[in-house]
Amino acid sequence: MAKNQGSATSSQSAPSLTDKPGDGAPAVSSQAEFVVVANRLPVDLERLPDGTTRWKRSPGGLVTALEPILRSNKGAWVGWAGVADADLEPVTEDGLELYPVPLSADEIAEYYEGFSNATLWPLYHDVIVKPEYHRHWWDTYVQVNRRFAEATSKAAAHGATVWIQDYQLQLVPKMLRMLRPDLTIGFFLHIPFPPVELFMQLPWRTEIVEGLLGADLIGFHLPGGAQNFLYLARRLAGQPTSRGSVGVRSKLGAVQVGFRTVRVGAFPISIASGQLDELSRSKTVRDRAKQIRKELGNPKNIMLGVDRLDYTKGIDIRLDALYELLQEKRVDPSETVMVQLATPSRERVESYVQMRGSIEQTVSRINGEYAQVGRPVVHYIHRPIPRDELIAFFVAADVMLVTPLRDGMNLVAKEYVACRSDLGGALLLSEFTGAAAELRQAYLCNPHDLDDTKNAMEQALEQDREEGRRRMRALRRQVLAHDVDRWARSFLDALEKAGDHSTTVVAPPTNRSS
Ligand code: ADP
Ligand code: F6P
Repeated sequence: MAKNQGSATSSQSAPSLTDKPGDGAPAVSSQAEFVVVANRLPVDLERLPDGTTRWKRSPGGLVTALEPILRSNKGAWVGWAGVADADLEPVTEDGLELYPVPLSADEIAEYYEGFSNATLWPLYHDVIVKPEYHRHWWDTYVQVNRRFAEATSKAAAHGATVWIQDYQLQLVPKMLRMLRPDLTIGFFLHIPFPPVELFMQLPWRTEIVEGLLGADLIGFHLPGGAQNFLYLARRLAGQPTSRGSVGVRSKLGAVQVGFRTVRVGAFPISIASGQLDELSRSKTVRDRAKQIRKELGNPKNIMLGVDRLDYTKGIDIRLDALYELLQEKRVDPSETVMVQLATPSRERVESYVQMRGSIEQTVSRINGEYAQVGRPVVHYIHRPIPRDELIAFFVAADVMLVTPLRDGMNLVAKEYVACRSDLGGALLLSEFTGAAAELRQAYLCNPHDLDDTKNAMEQALEQDREEGRRRMRALRRQVLAHDVDRWARSFLDALEKAGDHSTTVVAPPTNRSS
């Protein structure tokens, strides 16, 4: 993957669905001392029309962040291969040891599309759409979490460190601890942890909190998420209940669960910023960036959006802002283009289907009213873009549009900054992203306030060169100094201390830097 981080990675060493070790794909040799567990493997298995298969990079920020960490820490990755009924043996793919966990079509519908992405995802993102609560989805979530715990138990060596990721697997820490008390278990949530009042809607709130408390260390992006969790741990798992509570006492940064101390802290995630900085300086990327500008008709301003096509990302808001600015003649369509690169995401979940329809309608409306033949105002590409090409787009873009209604961190904002060693460009950034806590010199906006978003967009488009350089220099200082290695080191160091049951732990590990 490191060599070719585009949508398609390698096909030559990909196993067929019947591959077993010894059939060509290198087998995994022994149990691992370090194990990452995530819903998805870093690569998805793609079934081609001719019946063959190949691996391609999985979507999303989790993979962007953790793939370089697993490479430098040498370990195994337990996760789903992204297709139904793929019963694969553990395999080494491009240097990574992968332990695939199979999911049936029904489990994909109920655990992944249902409970993970139509219950937890909207609930944890401030109920932008209404979460659905279905008991059979919950049952499947429990069943699949148990399968992940069992697969991890097989992959991990005695005394290993296991790092469980994200909202799809919140029951795994407790399940795994029951199977393997010898392990040191960390959990990191890549999305926001919601306000207490919203979390309390969840019919299975106690089970989720108790599931997480199976870890030695629970990490969130921001201190607010950690505080919400600490409060809930005391409230939900603190008293004996008919469901058999664990009896919890919490203090700042630590929860006492019986004889165990669970640490809770904030660890804002980041990117491999040094690597991106270097790639973006290459002549190939610079030349491609110039060519992109030319292909777009050499406009004065290129605005860029790069997202999974998700309703949390506020793609509709940036389009509405542009539309009104065009209507008010505050933006000239002969000088400005917007490029929206949108990776397809969760395409069978109803709220995603609806959002896609409405975004595509707005793109057509803007182009219908303001484009010239051969010169659209909005260029919309609904497919993943190869990594090198994406970097060239970052280098070419005068204004980067990051306008989520809610986002745990948003790595795209950091990627843009890492790619701007020329100190050019401007970042429009929603206050409702985790990144906004660190990137204070961006043009910050409230995406719930269209006028505020329009004003910030206009300011970013019209920024004075020296002002832009000053802002970008400060942004880069933050992003280059706080990279993904530093994030992982601070989490894993805290986990090592938390897993050492001979030490008493008091203070919260808050790795906040601004
Ligand atoms: P999320 O994890 O919610 O998808 P992030 O912004 O944190 O959001 O991470 C998204 C990751 O996916 C980034 O590394 C980004 O570069 C990548 N990405 C997003 N959109 C595209 C696209 N259209 N083509 C290729 N990569 C993309
Ligand atoms: O952090 C958000 C997240 O859900 C990750 O867990 C995941 O890698 C990414 O977004 C992409 O989502 P999905 O796996 O549903 O395509």
